[in-house]
Amino acid sequence: MYNTILTSLNDGIFTITINRPEKLNALNRDVIGELAAAIVEIDTNPDVKAAIITGAGPKAFVAGADISEFTVLNGESGRKLAQKGQDLVFTPIEQGAKPIVAAVNGFALGGGCELAMACHFRVAASNAKFGQPEVNLGLIPGYGGTQRLTQLIGKGKAMELMMTGGMIDANEALRLGLVNYVTEPEELLPKVHELLAQIITKAPLAIEKIIELVNIAAVGSLDGLEKEVDAFGALFETEDMKEGANAFLEKRKPVFKGR
Ligand code: COA
Repeated sequence: MYNTILTSLNDGIFTITINRPEKLNALNRDVIGELAAAIVEIDTNPDVKAAIITGAGPKAFVAGADISEFTVLNGESGRKLAQKGQDLVFTPIEQGAKPIVAAVNGFALGGGCELAMACHFRVAASNAKFGQPEVNLGLIPGYGGTQRLTQLIGKGKAMELMMTGGMIDANEALRLGLVNYVTEPEELLPKVHELLAQIITKAPLAIEKIIELVNIAAVGSLDGLEKEVDAFGALFETEDMKEGANAFLEKRKPVFKGR
């Protein structure tokens, strides 16, 4: 039924596995479209009580939005990319009625870190690495990262991670509160299943209200996501963004000029 993701349902727990391991599970248009459909499936199938999002292969959860799709974007289409992803995938994950947990099995960079952060909480394998490297492309996060990273780890560390574009390992993510547990890679899915098996024995309407109210508590500014989309789009009009994306695809260092 899907081409870029795998899905399965066991004992009420629906698992979505993003399945482009040769591209480190980068989020292209097809993945975003299929994730959107899978999120609708979670919401509408009464047999689904909770969900897990993970990545295929040993190396990556998701290494970001697919940079090869960036080179043709301008301000308007860049803005639309962010808005569509937020509206169809990231916000519905965060605001859905059923618990969704990220099982982070490797690189969670850019849109991958944002996907993990849209989930209700995160468990990481010991080889996981987190970061928002968009600045290396002359960009910023566009799928909610400026807002959710700040909510989860606080202003100073969020500023540092987004400004340096650097990565942190699973133990640092645990220390910062970005993830709730770190496991050995082979224990990752069993640990998430164990947590969700416990959660789905609880009253679903109470769980739904917990999600709704914790989300309200966590939001700093109501128009933060909208402003992020505007800024993300605007940066696609810069020379530096084109230089950043081309440098990645040509496997060289970018030279930024501030325009
Ligand atoms: N978009 C498109 N393709 C990507 C990608 C992305 N975000 N991340 C990885 N890939 C591709 C690589 O181009 C490469 O493809 P190729 O084999 O056809 O050349 C393949 O996935 C494997 O990645 P590679 O870079 O060779 O692996 P690595 O182990 O040397 O490095 C990373 C791993 C994650 C450090 C590196 O891939 C990376 O920096 N990715 C981009 C991260 C990023 O900037 N994300 C934010 C985007 S907004």
